[in-house]
Amino acid sequence: MVPPTGSMASDTTSSDPDRWFSDWFQEDYLVLYQHRGVEEARGFLDHILPELTPKPSGWVLDLACGAGRHSHYLASLGFSVVGLDLSKPLLVRAMKTITPSKIPWIQADMRSIPLRNESVSLVMSMFTSFGYFLNDREDILVLKEVSRVLVPESWLILDTLNPGYVEKTLVPHSERWQRDMTIIEEREIDRTRRRVNKTIRLRRGNQEKAFMESVRMYSVDELTQLLTSVSCAPRILWGDYNGSKYFPQSPRLIIAAQKYATDTV
Ligand SMILES: C[S@@+](CC[C@H](N)C(=O)[O-])C[C@H]1O[C@@H](n2cnc3c(N)ncnc32)[C@H](O)[C@@H]1O
Repeated sequence: MVPPTGSMASDTTSSDPDRWFSDWFQEDYLVLYQHRGVEEARGFLDHILPELTPKPSGWVLDLACGAGRHSHYLASLGFSVVGLDLSKPLLVRAMKTITPSKIPWIQADMRSIPLRNESVSLVMSMFTSFGYFLNDREDILVLKEVSRVLVPESWLILDTLNPGYVEKTLVPHSERWQRDMTIIEEREIDRTRRRVNKTIRLRRGNQEKAFMESVRMYSVDELTQLLTSVSCAPRILWGDYNGSKYFPQSPRLIIAAQKYATDTV
């Protein structure tokens, strides 16, 4: 059914572009992305975990865990998992979905991770949870924090947009319907700032809410430079959630980086 259009009562939620991620990752995000579930997480982890040597043993940090789909599967494999996210509604969903759960859920900002130095054997940053800050220095802060909490020789999995794929496939405008809601998305690449920006308008009846997303697209070379600057060496590159090899236009850019051994720092 095509919903009625006309004058809308507009509620533009994203007032501060610096904080777009606090506004957007709330209940509406959960509705729009409900199809990204545990099955996808399971498939990916089954492909990549066997490739990590040494194997993670000890705590795993699901950084920007959202509703906890990776945490859930990792815990079912026997890992001790901690999930960290800024969004209370997403953490509440994680707690409700994953029961009984021994997973500690932490509401915190990824730029300041409230965990001890060298206390974690694997950090997962999944499904484009990196590149959110308008200043690159803030993204580097995240990587510094990741490196600080990682045990030497343990792993970071960083799953980001692949700039070549975004350039090739970007759809400037789309509209779709989900339940009682029309979802209108506008996308553009800001080549000066190397960001992909999206506005999302959600219409229900005559109510409209607007959100934005703005993600820095890092190339492999840039990420290699950032990771080495925080004592992590990129070791494996994947291009999708099936664990296929990365290529310049693969759907994803997923890096397994290993923190340097203590004697090489
Ligand atoms: C695209 S979602 C990915 C969620 C999850 N990793 C997954 O695969 O489903 C990005 C997540 O990053 C979280 N996030 C955004 N900004 C954050 C910040 N500054 N610190 C911690 N988490 C943040 C959001 O709340 C959201 O859950």
